[in-house]
Amino acid sequence: AIENQSLYQHYDFPVGVAIEPYQTAFFNENEPIIRTQFDRLTASNRFKADFIHPEENTFFWTQADLIIEYAEANNKSVHGHTLIWHEQLPTWMENFKGNRNEWEEMMKKHITTIASRYKGKVKAWDVVNEAFLEDGTLRPNIWYKNMGSSYIEKAFQYAHEADPGALLFYNDFNLALRPAKRKAALDLMKQLKFKGLPIHGIGMQSHIAISYPSELDLALAMKEITDAGFKLHISELDVAVNGNSSSSFKLNSELLQRQAKRYKFVFENYSKLEKQYQYGITIWGINDGESWIPGYFNREDYPLLFDETFSPKPAYCALINN
Ligand code: XIL
Repeated sequence: AIENQSLYQHYDFPVGVAIEPYQTAFFNENEPIIRTQFDRLTASNRFKADFIHPEENTFFWTQADLIIEYAEANNKSVHGHTLIWHEQLPTWMENFKGNRNEWEEMMKKHITTIASRYKGKVKAWDVVNEAFLEDGTLRPNIWYKNMGSSYIEKAFQYAHEADPGALLFYNDFNLALRPAKRKAALDLMKQLKFKGLPIHGIGMQSHIAISYPSELDLALAMKEITDAGFKLHISELDVAVNGNSSSSFKLNSELLQRQAKRYKFVFENYSKLEKQYQYGITIWGINDGESWIPGYFNREDYPLLFDETFSPKPAYCALINN
C-alpha cells in the first residue's frame, strides 16, 4: 500500500503538491496520498484573486482556510499562490477605474488583507506570477498598464510589510525553455534585490514535457537562479507525455518510462544544489484524472505521479528508488 512509502521522506527538502480543498476530505481517495506523500501544500486555485477577493469589499476565506487548517492538523507547510497575476481576476478588478495612486491603493489592500490574514501560516508567497512574456518583455497586464513596471516592486514591498516573516517569490513558466525570458526575470529580480527589496526566491513552474526542455537547459536554469543568490522553488512540476498535442496519442510503457526519467532528473539535479537555495519541489496535482493539463490545453495527457485510479506510476517509483 502507498502508505508504506513516503515520497517526501526520501528527500531532504520539502516535497509539495497542489490541491483543491475537497481532496483533503477524509473520504476522498486523494487524502491518504496527500497526507503520506507530501509535506508541503499549495492551493491550485483558492488563494487566487477571483476566488479569495470576489468583490471589491468582499473577501472569501472559507476554502483557503480549509487548506491552512488541513496543513496545520497534518504538519505540512503552506506555499501561498498567488498574490498578483493576470489570470483568474475577478471582474471588478479587471474593470477597476482609477489613477495610478488608486491602483496602488487597490493592489495594496488586496495584498495586505490576504498576507496579514495568513501571517505566520503561509511560509512563502508567489508575490508576482508570470510578469514576463516569452521574449523577455514585461507582459502588458492590468497591473502594468495602470501602474507601469513599478507594480512589481510595490507588490513585494506590500507583501513584506504585511508579513515580514514570509519568504517572497517571483514565479514564472518556461524559465528553462526560454533563455531570454529567464535572463529578463533574473536581471529584474537581481536589480530589485540590490535596491533592498525583499525578494527571496524564484519559482520555476516547470510544466515540462518528456521531450523538452533538454536536461542541459533545466540544469542551467537551476544553476543560474541559485548562482544569483535566489532560493529556487520548482513550483508547479508536471511532465506531459503528449506535449506536442497529437490527436492520435496512445499512452504506452515507453512513454511512462521516459516520464519517470524526467521526474528523476529534476529531483536529482535539484538535490545537488546548495542546501540554502533548496526551498522545495511542488508537483502540480496528485493524479492524472484531475490534472489541469487535459482541460486547459484541450488534449489527452497523463502528467502526474499517480494515475486516475490513484495508483503510483513508474515516475513515482523512480522517485522513491534512490
Ligand atoms: C491552474 C490550475 O491548476 C487550474 O485548476 C486552473 O483552471 C488554471 O490554473 N500557472 C500557474 C497556476 O501559475 O496557477 C495554474 O494553475 C497553472 C499555470
